This record gives sequence, structure tokens and C-alpha cells, in this order.
Amino acid sequence: MDYTQKMLRDDALKGKSIVVTGGGSGLGKAMTRYFMELGAKVAITSRNLEKLQNTAKELEEETGGKCIAVQCDVRNYDEVEAMRDAVIDQFGSVDVLLNNAAGNFISPTERLSANAFDTIIDIVLKGSKNCTLAFGKHWIDKKEKDKTVLNIVTTYAWTGSAYVVPSATAKAGVLAMTRSLAVEWAKYGIRSNAIAPGPFPTKGAWDRLLPGDLKDKFDLSKKVPLKRVGEHQELANLAAYLVSDFSAYVNGEVITIDGGEWLKGAGQFNLLEAIPEELWDQLEAMIKAKKGS
Ligand code: COA
Repeated sequence: MDYTQKMLRDDALKGKSIVVTGGGSGLGKAMTRYFMELGAKVAITSRNLEKLQNTAKELEEETGGKCIAVQCDVRNYDEVEAMRDAVIDQFGSVDVLLNNAAGNFISPTERLSANAFDTIIDIVLKGSKNCTLAFGKHWIDKKEKDKTVLNIVTTYAWTGSAYVVPSATAKAGVLAMTRSLAVEWAKYGIRSNAIAPGPFPTKGAWDRLLPGDLKDKFDLSKKVPLKRVGEHQELANLAAYLVSDFSAYVNGEVITIDGGEWLKGAGQFNLLEAIPEELWDQLEAMIKAKKGS
């Protein structure tokens, strides 16, 4: 099976302009590349302008599409408004906001300073709120319709997860915002959806979160029923669908793309997967023998 194939037809996003926060690297970059291949103009934002400019140039050369780099720390509302206005200046309008920028510290919670906790909440929850509010207010004020907000969350937004508590707390808030605004802003022609990705390795985040040989010790693909991690194109396919007109009736949804990972941890008897066939034979024989007695 080739799950790295590109899903949508050429020009599926032609005419759309898209803002991807945290678009300079990792999954944001992968989604940006595919949006450009499908004909969209994309603005990528982060704190690191040089990295953004390099990515924009690389992707323009690779795809022949249009990508601009706009510096913005999503934690500061003034910077977010300035970023929005700069993108609108260049593109005329914006159709899609992809809240992808994130930060995460893997740590026992009691070891985190109050400022460390705030840092993650500020990037993930406040940053997504800042961007959503800035673009939403503009669209509503200008009576522009057919807009989409797509938020990248995580499956532990609803299960919670030990050792990433600030991230779990913030992503749960982003998910609540997604569902709330899906209803409240539908009347303005603004859809809100989310994607909850499982393990999709990226160099930056994974090296930082699981440094050294921790990556091998905690091989996350072993936790996935499909026994593999995700390919970036698989996520890009889903994101492209959710920002395209093909998903015009999808609103307030969070789509999990994790190979079944979170459910594996949830089902009461899922750990019986460890039982080999011979043992099942023995167990069946024992149960049948008991029935007969
Ligand atoms: N574990 C625990 N605490 C940490 C930490 C870590 N790995 N790294 C920094 N902190 C603490 C700092 O000590 C500081 O707290 P203090 O003032 O009480 O000492 C606080 O967090 C803020 O640190 P600072 O370095 O000023 O943060 P920053 O705003 O410059 O950068 C990030 C924070 C998250 C943006 C940065 O680490 C980063 O770029 N991460 C990459 C993005 C990422 O994490 N991606 C994963 C996506 S899931």
C-alpha cells in the first residue's frame, strides 16, 4: 500500500490563500508544501524569520507556487494583528487559518516552573485564540464568507496525558474552542475543525522531546495498532481536504489520524494482544472443558 500518495486533484486549492502558523518546519512545512502543490498561496509564520524565508524560498522552487514569510510570535495579539494585515496586504484576503504552532515540554509537572507552564499555555492556547480572534473578527467585520479555521490538536486533548500536562491542558482548550466556534461562527460562514495526529515524527520536535537514545527506548510505533508512525503526506492529505471546498459540510469535527493509537490504550482488554495463538488454544480448551463439566 502506498500511503504517501497525494490525495486531491490538481488545483483543488487554487484561489485560496492560507496562513500556517509554525509553518517554517516539521508538519507545518509538510502541509504548506502540499497546499502549494494544490494551487494555494500560503503565508507561513513563526518567530524565526530567517528560517521562514529559507522555507518559503525552498517551497517556491520545489512547487512553483507562492509562499511568503511573516514573522510573528503568536503569543502577542498585536503581532498577530500585524501579521494578519501584512498577509492581507499581499494576498488581498485570507481564506484559511491553520493553527499549527505549538510548544511542549516533557517533564514531571512538579518540576516545571510556573513560567514554563505558562509558556506552553501561551503558545498553544493563547496563540490559537489570538490568531482565531484576529482573523475571525476581520472576516465577520468585512462580511467575508467561506472561511475555515483548522486547529492541530492531539488525542491527549481528551484523554489527558501524564508528563505533558501544560500541552494537554492547552490542547483541550483549543478543542473546546474548535467545537464552540463551529456553532457560534457558522452563521458568518466560518467553519472550525481540528485534526488530532498521533505519532508523526519530525526532526525538531522529536529530537527535543525525546533526546538521545530515548527515541529508541520509547519507540512510539510499538504503541500503534498499525505498527508504524504516520507519514507527513497522510497528514497533509487530511489537512488539504479539511481546508478545501470538498469538506464544506464538515464543521466542528476533530479527526483522529493515529493508526488507532489512543484507542489501544483505552480498551479494557486490549492488552490481551500479548497472548500468543497457542495460549488462546489452551484457554479455549480450558473454557470448553469447564462448560462440559
Ligand atoms: N523543560 C522544562 N522547562 C523548560 C524547558 C524544558 N525543556 N525549556 C525551557 N523551560 C522553562 C524555562 O526555564 C523558563 O522558565 P523559568 O523562567 O521559570 O526558568 C520557561 O520554560 C520559558 O523558557 P524560554 O526558554 O524562555 O521559552 P521560550 O519562550 O524562549 O521557548 C519554546 C519555549 C517552547 C517555544 C521553545 O522551547 C521551542 O522553540 N520549542 C520548540 C517547539 C516545540 O516544542 N515543538 C513541539 C511541538 S509539540
